[in-house]
Amino acid sequence: MSRTIFVTTALPYANGSFHIGHIMEYIQADIWVRSMRMSGHTVHFVGADDAHGAPIMLKAESEGITPQALVARYASERPQYLNGFNIRFDHWHSTDTPENVELSQDIYRKLKAAGFIESRTIEQFYDPVKGMFLPDRYIKGECPKCHAADQYGDSCEACGAVYAPTDLIKPYSTLTKATPVLKSSEHFFFKLSDPRCVEFLQDWTNGTNAQGTRRLQTEVLGKTREWLGAGTDASQANLADWDISRDEPYFGIPIPDAPGKFFYVWLDAPVGYLASLKAYCNKVGLNYDELLEPGNSTEQVHFIGKDIVYFHALFWPAMLKFSGRKIPDFLHVHGFITVSGEKMSKSRGTGISPLRYLEIGMNPEWLRYYMAAKLNARVEDLDFNPDDFIARVNSDLVGKYVNIASRAANFISKHFKGELAYLGDTAALQNELDAVVQAVRTDFEHREYGRAIRQIMAHADHINQAFDTAQPWVMAKGIATATPEQQAALQNVCSRALAGFKALTVMLAPVLPALAARVATELFNDAAPYAWSSATELPARIEPFKHLMQRVEPKMLDDLFEPPAQPVPTPGGEAIADTIDIKDFAKVDLRIARIVSCERVEGSDKLLRLQLDLGEGRLRQVFSGIQACYQPDDLIDKLTVVVANLAPRKMRFGVSEGMVLAASHADTGVDAGIYVLQPWPGAQPGMRIS
Ligand code: MSP
Ligand code: ZN
Repeated sequence: MSRTIFVTTALPYANGSFHIGHIMEYIQADIWVRSMRMSGHTVHFVGADDAHGAPIMLKAESEGITPQALVARYASERPQYLNGFNIRFDHWHSTDTPENVELSQDIYRKLKAAGFIESRTIEQFYDPVKGMFLPDRYIKGECPKCHAADQYGDSCEACGAVYAPTDLIKPYSTLTKATPVLKSSEHFFFKLSDPRCVEFLQDWTNGTNAQGTRRLQTEVLGKTREWLGAGTDASQANLADWDISRDEPYFGIPIPDAPGKFFYVWLDAPVGYLASLKAYCNKVGLNYDELLEPGNSTEQVHFIGKDIVYFHALFWPAMLKFSGRKIPDFLHVHGFITVSGEKMSKSRGTGISPLRYLEIGMNPEWLRYYMAAKLNARVEDLDFNPDDFIARVNSDLVGKYVNIASRAANFISKHFKGELAYLGDTAALQNELDAVVQAVRTDFEHREYGRAIRQIMAHADHINQAFDTAQPWVMAKGIATATPEQQAALQNVCSRALAGFKALTVMLAPVLPALAARVATELFNDAAPYAWSSATELPARIEPFKHLMQRVEPKMLDDLFEPPAQPVPTPGGEAIADTIDIKDFAKVDLRIARIVSCERVEGSDKLLRLQLDLGEGRLRQVFSGIQACYQPDDLIDKLTVVVANLAPRKMRFGVSEGMVLAASHADTGVDAGIYVLQPWPGAQPGMRIS
């Protein structure tokens, strides 16, 4: 039976670029979506940026731009990553959109009408200098237990103690260093402790979906049972009501009928799943309301990481249920990716930058294959290990799978004009392939990707062994003058290997979509993309084999982990210029400038055209030879230093009214990089540098 499935991945915070953990989550979901579509199911796969919240507001402020501009900057980089790794969302949206405002406010109104919202006055730390209530992460102080200095507001990194920010000794605001004061304010709470809610959650978490499978993985269910109490007695539950409001200033969605109050980011973030689907439906002419009608058979599946289970297994289903909406059918929780056994740090990311991976020309499908080989349906962490990566790609993917085609295809092209022919029982061959394909298809559906890959590679071994045993290279000697039976025997051996190769390609298609599409169109003259049922359709002819996939060079992994080697400057570098006195220096008028716009110059591979604000009430045009080292978008809204009294210079592309300061090695030029100067935070356009 054909199913309709609504699939999402967690919405990434829009205050940073994607890291390898995000990419892993998207690859996992993308593989699942592709495999379900190959079964003929209809899948709507959407994502979005999680735009709201205090960190985004404060980061934008520190850069002197609006939160919307900050979000837009990260949103504009998303396609490079997604396209680069063949991750095909149907739609990518944002939580800072009219759809999300409307849906979030509607859900809130319904929850309120049903008696799930309560207002209470609470006391919280407030930064009197900044004029805002402080989220715990912006409060530090001395640990009340071990007296370690500079510990965060919720727990001590030195002794592990957990406490409230008000327990800290000598607390201070990390934003202004001011001592926070306690201030009271009215907050809105979602009453998770309401017996109706506890009862529903006990039901939902323990229950099964329309497919008859549990909604939650065993490990996740273990967690929710801890939170909800094991029995069905609501009084055993230990759920705190959830504070869903924040006071201004806050970048978020206004709470209806509550001036100055905004939804806490985690209230409107998951609603972004619905907002994205709704925008997608409007775009392609689907009926959103009907699709998510509570009685409708559409399945709703969320892929998320293990750190955000509480939000997705408790708050989110309860929000949906008591606002009269469709509830989620399945939560798929994955573990975290580590790199060579090391945990990723929030600030530094990991040793693997997804963009760098693509930039140095590594094949995105190697990473998809490696991750698939290591993923399963449990909440387990996954380690990226460079040697293991090389081994799996080179010996399994290239050595076992690709190798079959390169060995068998040439005999067929050379001796049989591309025609395939099978001797004996083809039904038996089809049955043999079908058995493997069905097992693999089921593994993908159950997100046991590692097991699927093991079965695929075991079958590749089987095909290679049959080929080696038949020794077609021996059969091919003198084949032009051989008997028709001998010729047919060679053709049969190679045809069977190629039929196997095609089935393997179909089985790998969710993981290697680009390679599978090439094999389909270039080798087999089939229409891409493949469905599961394509696997047992025996190919009748092939086009000449073209090279399919490179091996990983170990050097690529060195490049991936290490920044590109910088030419070592000669000791002392460039000689220091002649001495000047302060009067000479004062002749050079250096000013802070804001880069208002920045673009490539048509017809030049060196220059960027900048519009600069020096606080003069007009903009200056300046050309700068830094195109090789900077993406124009990365410079917009940044501050820099400009020689403001340089005589205007007429250039081929226009007049340049100043010079942006940048560092480089005189003798190595662009190779060693060019580094535009940027002042410390706080500098304003027009300030003089002395
Ligand atoms: N904005 C929230 C999610 C809101 S969903 C309505 C958020 N964003 S996040 O950018 O921090 O994380 C996005 C996803 O990436 C989450 O599912 C998270 O678990 C996942 N990962 C973050 N680090 C990860 C790894 N190191 N490995 C794998 N996934 C990781 O949370
Ligand atoms: Zn401590």
